[in-house]
Amino acid sequence: MKELLWDKTLSIDVPEIDQDHRRLLELFNRLGQAAEDAEPQAYIEAIMDELISCTGWHFQHEERLMEKYGYHGLEEHRAEHQDLMARGRALQQQLRQAGAPPSVQEIAVLEHWLTGHIYGADMAMGAQLAEAM
Ligand SMILES: [Fe+2]
Repeated sequence: MKELLWDKTLSIDVPEIDQDHRRLLELFNRLGQAAEDAEPQAYIEAIMDELISCTGWHFQHEERLMEKYGYHGLEEHRAEHQDLMARGRALQQQLRQAGAPPSVQEIAVLEHWLTGHIYGADMAMGAQLAEAM
């Protein structure tokens, strides 16, 4: 199963946010590894639940900083978070209903779900926050 490794290209130059992102990557890797090792379904679902709740918590963290520093793209960014949470919860539900480990394709969807937003909206936000903070 593909493992996501942290590197400088993922850094948005805001250390406290980078720290959250590293944690999310770690959970993603743990999920992939658990699927590969055919761990019990309840364990796999627990990791997925942790990934989704940490993501929700992390989005609040970003939104709090964007509000504090008057980030101009806040509303658009918040809307993207809401969309990501809806898609993440749908995947979580899908996994639960299937009662089977995530497929390679589902892991790939989740990978894009995780990194696409960091490389896009979070980079733009980081550029401004890093200056303001
Ligand atoms: Fe974000």
